[in-house]
Amino acid sequence: MTVYLNGQYLPLAEAKISPLDRGFLFGDGAYEVIPVYSRRPFRLDEHLARLQKTLDAIRLPNPLADAEWREVIARIVAAGESEDQSVLLQVTRGADVMRDHAFPVGVPPTVFVFTAPLVTPGPVQRAAGAAAITVADARWARCDLKVISLVANVLARQQAVDVGSVEAIMLRDGLLSEGAASNIFVVKDGVLLAPPKDWRMLPGITYDVVLELAARHGMKFEVRDIAEAELRAADELWMTSSTKEVLAIVTLDGQPVGDGRPGPAAQQMYAWYSAFRDQVMRNSDA
Ligand code: PDD
Repeated sequence: MTVYLNGQYLPLAEAKISPLDRGFLFGDGAYEVIPVYSRRPFRLDEHLARLQKTLDAIRLPNPLADAEWREVIARIVAAGESEDQSVLLQVTRGADVMRDHAFPVGVPPTVFVFTAPLVTPGPVQRAAGAAAITVADARWARCDLKVISLVANVLARQQAVDVGSVEAIMLRDGLLSEGAASNIFVVKDGVLLAPPKDWRMLPGITYDVVLELAARHGMKFEVRDIAEAELRAADELWMTSSTKEVLAIVTLDGQPVGDGRPGPAAQQMYAWYSAFRDQVMRNSDA
């Protein structure tokens, strides 16, 4: 498998970084996960724009221009083994000889791009839906940034896996924030509810696609704070992400959501999502 590391394309086994890399020592870096269908990246502009926002916020100059990112991603995708892939790109503040929290001076960033086969939920999982639990959101106050310091997300998702669930839904001050690795939507009385894109959650690329599709097809939706009680009284819950696409959550903390099966709105949105994705991919010259 070919990866990109600091200007070079090389086999994964030959890609080496320093143990003093600040990504390793401090979790000091940014990342993106980009879904690729039929070797074409989906919503690449939006992923690169979000990367830029994260880099700006953590004061790490973007090492590559967008055209360069596109070129690197195109080469990595071309070398990838599957038609559908999940591309990870990661930038850290590099490796200094000294371990000091403050920014190093004159140290180049570490830039890594890697691809893996895209594993989206199959028809069986889609028909069954997913189990979720709730956990307290123990993260910092910039959850809008896609940074690599993910230990709180890792702990939350492991808590879910420990009890046979797929996702942990995080609550902060009695409000829904998001999943450990996904955004969460609620359907109640025919209205789609989405938490606002503020510091409490990652502005998901899939989240935006879902709201665009709701607007386009006339599904009623509201973007507003969602209280824990509304989460628990939902007719439907969905999780969305670049790899899960739109997936119905059918139990929450062991209780059925609605009638305990994927609801009609989730099925409708997934149908719109896959039709839209396929149409964009057909028209894309990427
Ligand atoms: N996770 N919220 C969090 C905390 C996430 O980690 C993700 C994505 C999302 C959904 O964002 P998007 O629709 O842009 O994928 C929301 C990726 C897939 C990951 O870390 O693997």
